[in-house]
Formats: sequence, C-alpha cells, structure tokens
Amino acid sequence: MLNSSVRLMAVTISQLLWVMMVPAYASDIQALVQPCTMCHGVDGNSANSGVPSIAGITPEYFAHVMDAYKNEGRNSPMMKQFTHTLGEADIAQLAEFYGKQKFVARTQEFDAALAQKGALLHAKYCEKCHENGGRITENNYGILAGQWTPYLRQALTAYLDNTRRVNPMMITKLKLLEQEAGQDGIEQLLHFYASPH
Ligand code: HEC
Ligand code: HEC
Repeated sequence: MLNSSVRLMAVTISQLLWVMMVPAYASDIQALVQPCTMCHGVDGNSANSGVPSIAGITPEYFAHVMDAYKNEGRNSPMMKQFTHTLGEADIAQLAEFYGKQKFVARTQEFDAALAQKGALLHAKYCEKCHENGGRITENNYGILAGQWTPYLRQALTAYLDNTRRVNPMMITKLKLLEQEAGQDGIEQLLHFYASPH
C-alpha cells in the first residue's frame, strides 16, 4: 500500500517536472492546432478532397488568407468559424507551425494529354505569379501543384464568380483564360496541377 502510493507520488512528480520542462510554446501551439487537425490533418496534409492541404505554405500567405476568412475577402462560413477568435499572435504561431510542415503532393488521377495542354495554359496565364509550375515557392500564393483537384476547382469557380476576392491581375488573367480556352481550359489546368511535374 505504502509502496504503491510512494510510486504514484514519484510518477506524479516526474509528470509535473515534465510538464514544467516543456516550453509553454509547445502546449500553446498544440492547443491552437488541435481544432484544425480534424479537417486539415495533423500536419496540414489534408485527407479530404474538399479541404486544402496547408503544409509548407509561407507565413505571409497564411496570414493573408486568415485575414481574408475573418474579414470575408473569402466567403467560407466554415473557416470563419475557426478564425474569428484568433488574434494576431495566434495567427503568427499557427503560420510558423504550418510553414515548417512538409507538403505531400496528393496522388490523383489525371489525363496525360489534358495535363500537357494545361501546362501550356499555366505557362501563358499563371506562371508569372505561381512560379515553378504552381509548386510551393518562397513567394508562395497557395499550393497548386499536388493540391486536391476538387478544392482547386471550387476555388477557381469562386474567383470567377467574384465570391473570393484576389489580386485584380489574377482575375484578369483567369477571365482571359476562361474567354480564350473556356471551361475545357480550366479542366486542362486542373489535370496539369494533379499530374506530377
Ligand atoms: C471543419 C473543417 C475545417 C476546420 C476545422 C478548419 N478548416 Fe481551414 N479550411 C477548410 C476548408 C473547407 C477550406 C477551404 C475554404 C475555401 O473555399 O476558401 C479551408 C481553408 C483554409 C486555408 C486556406 C488554404 C489555401 O490554400 O488558401 C487555411 C490557411 C486554413 N484553412 C487554415 C486553418 C486553420 C489554421 C484552422 C484551425 C484554426 C482551420 N483551417 C480549421 C476547412 C476547415
Ligand atoms: C498577378 C499574379 C497572379 C496571377 C497571374 C495568377 N495568380 Fe493565382 N493567386 C495570386 C494571388 C496573390 C493569390 C492569393 C490568394 C488570395 O488572395 O485569395 C492567388 C491564389 C490562387 C489560388 C488559390 C490557392 C489556394 O490555395 O486557395 C488559385 C487556385 C490560383 N491562384 C490559380 C491561378 C490560376 C489558375 C492562374 C492562371 C489563370 C493564376 N492563379 C494567375 C496571384 C496570381
């Protein structure tokens, strides 16, 4: 009896010491990230095709989109619900956390011939800002290469409907692409982003 309560006390003390030794930052960030994991995955690589992967995005882009969800530059009731209580310091910590995670490109079906046409359209209309075939770069504006296709399709539709606000130059290029290549062109781009390149 005495023996087991002594052991119990030893365990409690060692647990206490452990908790005290872990920097406050670690537990804060875990608590901040926890609600996001059910949709974006534990490390920001989403398993749900309607939810974007956010692993590896730059802190600048992260802060930019958080502001858009809070202030309705992007209309997503779901994301608004999870961002409206976050302060600047929380956003900075989350941005740092996701920026450090490693992005894993999704393996999705694609048609090689359509992807090839999409590559030309990307080079003509999009590469200027979404460098390196839409992969994550230092001046990253979101992930296009290896991102979930259903999410990207929905995001492009929202930009074209003006329900997602963005850099006016991007809208000009996207509308030009729609005019010149139609919905087929948009689908070709999506095949390109789904293909390993
Ligand atoms: C209930 C599911 C859900 C939860 C929980 C959630 N998200 Fe999201 N998140 C989404 C969806 C869906 C989108 C796409 C919204 C859109 O169409 O703009 C999104 C978009 C984003 C984006 C934009 C990605 C991009 O490429 O532009 C970021 C960043 C993000 N979420 C971060 C977070 C963080 C941080 C949390 C936790 C505080 C969180 N999300 C919680 C579903 C969720
Ligand atoms: C003048 C620069 C510019 C050009 C050209 C441009 N974009 Fe963008 N793009 C941006 C910026 C800035 C964002 C940041 C997102 C926001 O504010 O919603 C973005 C975001 C996106 C997103 C959202 C990514 C996400 O994770 O939610 C998609 C999809 C996208 N662009 C596709 C395209 C496509 C396709 C083209 C070519 C037709 C294109 N863009 C051309 C600047 C540009």
